[in-house]
Amino acid sequence: MADYVLAIDQGTTSSRAIIFDKSGSIVSTGQLEHEQIFPKAGWVEHDPKEIWNNTREVIGQALAKADLTRHDIAAVGITNQRETAVVWDKTTGEPVYNAIVWQDTRTQDIVDRLAADGGVERFKAKVGLPLATYFSGTKIVWILENVEGAREKAEAGDLLFGTTDSWVLWNLTGGVEGGVHATDVTNASRTMFMDLETLAWDDEILAAFGVPRSMLPEIKSSSEVYGTAEASSLLRETPIAGILGDQQAATFGQAAFEAGEAKNTYGTGNFLIFNTGTDIVHSKNGLLTTVGYKLGDAPVHYALEGSIAVTGSLIQWLRDNLGLISSAAEVEELAKGVEDNGGAYFVPAFSGLFAPYWRPDARGALVGLTRYVNKGHIARAALEAIAFQTRDVIEAVNADAGVDLTELRVDGGATANDTLLQFQADILGVPVVRPVVAETTALGAAYAAGLAVGFWSGLDELSANWQEDTRWTPSMDEDERARLDRNWKKAVTKTLDWVDDDVR
Ligand SMILES: Nc1ncnc2c1ncn2[C@@H]1O[C@H](COP(=O)(O)OP(=O)(O)OP(=O)(O)O)[C@@H](O)[C@H]1O
Ligand SMILES: [Mg+2]
Repeated sequence: MADYVLAIDQGTTSSRAIIFDKSGSIVSTGQLEHEQIFPKAGWVEHDPKEIWNNTREVIGQALAKADLTRHDIAAVGITNQRETAVVWDKTTGEPVYNAIVWQDTRTQDIVDRLAADGGVERFKAKVGLPLATYFSGTKIVWILENVEGAREKAEAGDLLFGTTDSWVLWNLTGGVEGGVHATDVTNASRTMFMDLETLAWDDEILAAFGVPRSMLPEIKSSSEVYGTAEASSLLRETPIAGILGDQQAATFGQAAFEAGEAKNTYGTGNFLIFNTGTDIVHSKNGLLTTVGYKLGDAPVHYALEGSIAVTGSLIQWLRDNLGLISSAAEVEELAKGVEDNGGAYFVPAFSGLFAPYWRPDARGALVGLTRYVNKGHIARAALEAIAFQTRDVIEAVNADAGVDLTELRVDGGATANDTLLQFQADILGVPVVRPVVAETTALGAAYAAGLAVGFWSGLDELSANWQEDTRWTPSMDEDERARLDRNWKKAVTKTLDWVDDDVR
């Protein structure tokens, strides 16, 4: 009997393969970063071929490091950066354009065009999302309108669209030789095309966008056997049995299975997901309505989500664009060299502001500067920005839920930063808790796959695997918390109304 499950985590910055044992512990990891391509201000692309090659390579790394072969792997789960759109030719397997990444804002004109008739909430009742550049729908439209020959090929049925789960699944299951073209309900819920009630593509919305239905993957549950790995893969004949978008996967990996449970992931961006059970809840406070998970034929679970575009990527920006630090981890040392933010507030509205503001016209601002402010204060302001944005989202969750969250479960790369999480607890006024396995994204995908093949018996067994590692308790006094929050909200106002006809 195979004793392990392998998860492929195709993220925004890197692709990972992680092998888990039955207790949900990590046995080995392979990881490779891929290039972030910025052709113009506001444009963000990845090379889908690089992503697929890296995926194959990290699978090899993970197996080799643990001295395992495919015979030791009971099932494979896939989790992915959501909303990032790949369009490829099914006859050649070649992408027709780079992947357009979720942070990319080039489709604002398409958003405006669609919103001219009915506003940005035009499709919200059906799909849970406002019209925004963030979701994959307008990215497909951009490719069809701007890549020569794409529209004709799409109408002839030769082009396929997928988020990177579908791209990886199709390649893993054989590509041009009968690759499976499917996605799961969570990824489908981020396109703008899926009806949340029926979990099917909506022809009216597709017509409004001008996207041929033949391009779209089949919508499946998050936990079932989609196919088996084929040639060109070390996983040959292994069932691919779980798919969850990265944020939903992290929620699943945190064992937040029931209504009222929530988690916050600190990666490239931050994403808070609040499980609403089998009810579709529409937010009055700027949160998205999305699918949480669906296990085979069991009822679907929905969630409210607070998506923040720029958090960990702000730290990368300090590293790559300013050269202020040489690794993400160094930001903590730099920030610890000062007592406080020195009056500086950094609002990283690089892609506009996402939840709860939804302001595409915003752009980043570093405010409150004086001669006193040094690079330590800027590092500190960047870390604080991650926590302040999270507080904004949690205020929205509390308002929608009518009760306040009493503690926050966290995970993701930036939760390695103790200074950040202490400030997070301070600015929220509730404890922040990190589990032993902070790679909850991959773990959630592994869980979904393992459940489908009987490797795990059910949700109770998974809940029993969850273990607390570290807890940060608030120590800031209420007046200071309120003062800092007022300053933050003032800083946010300075970023609004920036984009106009003079700003491209
Ligand atoms: N010590 C640290 N302090 C602050 N931020 C950090 C630290 N270590 C890593 N990060 C940030 O965390 C992010 C990486 O986290 P993680 O690995 O969870 O993201 P990811 O899963 O790669 O993101 P994605 O899935 O979007 O690719 C990077 O943006 C990095 O800047
Ligand atoms: Mg990730």
